[in-house]
Amino acid sequence: MKELYDLADLNPAEIEELLQLAKRLQDSPEPQALAGKVLAMLFMSPSLRTLASFQAAMTRLGGGSFVISPGMSIHGIETRPGIVMDGQAAEHIREAVPVIASYADAIGIRAFAERHNLKNDLADKEFNEMRALCKIPLINMESAINHPCQSLADWKTMDEIGIPRQGGKFVLSWAYHPRMLPLAVPAATVHMAAARGMDVTVARPAGFELPDEIMQRAQSAANASGGTLTETDDRAAALENAHIIYAKSWSSTRHYADRVADEELRSDLDDWRVDNSWFDTTQDDCRFMHCLPVRRGVVVADEVLDGPRSIVIQEAQNRMFAQMAVLHKMMLG
Ligand code: CP
Repeated sequence: MKELYDLADLNPAEIEELLQLAKRLQDSPEPQALAGKVLAMLFMSPSLRTLASFQAAMTRLGGGSFVISPGMSIHGIETRPGIVMDGQAAEHIREAVPVIASYADAIGIRAFAERHNLKNDLADKEFNEMRALCKIPLINMESAINHPCQSLADWKTMDEIGIPRQGGKFVLSWAYHPRMLPLAVPAATVHMAAARGMDVTVARPAGFELPDEIMQRAQSAANASGGTLTETDDRAAALENAHIIYAKSWSSTRHYADRVADEELRSDLDDWRVDNSWFDTTQDDCRFMHCLPVRRGVVVADEVLDGPRSIVIQEAQNRMFAQMAVLHKMMLG
């Protein structure tokens, strides 16, 4: 495996192999497997789980890792192509990425969407510019429009608790949040659930429709897996018989990059906060998923997050096991 940019780049057998390897490494640790190997991580955007779980994954496999981020005492990094660097930044990404990569066997990069231009973000423009600079294996640690490591961990988590692939109903629901958030997790999640063969419903208020590019990609995955895909603003109907409610907020696509219009649209949508009533018509054992971080009392009520339906900690722990599989496959073949 030379790259993990997008789970959609893997065929079903390759995904299954990673899931089986993750389980094997969870059950039977291999503390020397990656001895002498180094993972470089460039975090242009903040993280808790991704950063910590990759460091833990490398350590558990006997390798090492280092992190570079703008929050550290490094030179400011410029990312814009063709810029005259007469401002604060002393280093350009065009040198920074190859230099960091030259110290490592694989590199992971995180760079959130700029959210200035939907077309650029859907094309993952900034991430792809950095990707083109990588001459060693690359892991997408969340780009403008993708988060494959989260998706692999979420798939593993649903397998572990016996959520059916075929016939399992997966509801990706927009949830209230005071700020505009990126499309990466919803885009990756809707594709993952469709690729898993599930009956996927995207529930969201008007104005928060997922872009056609994201829905068409998920539809193709559903066609190939035998799953289904629908999108609706009828949340009550969407939640009926759900096996999974996966909550996530994202920016208004009607007012993308227009903070004032987006905030006005979402201002009276705080009833899209997940609470126990959302589970009234779901499957009895319906579970609550969220990639984290999550704002308590804003996105989801404590009664759900602290209750037996929540599997958010298991999802987060599975980030480490899923990524151990990715690193093992990438560095050892
Ligand atoms: N879910 C996730 O990627 O978490 P972090 O942003 O903390 O890495």
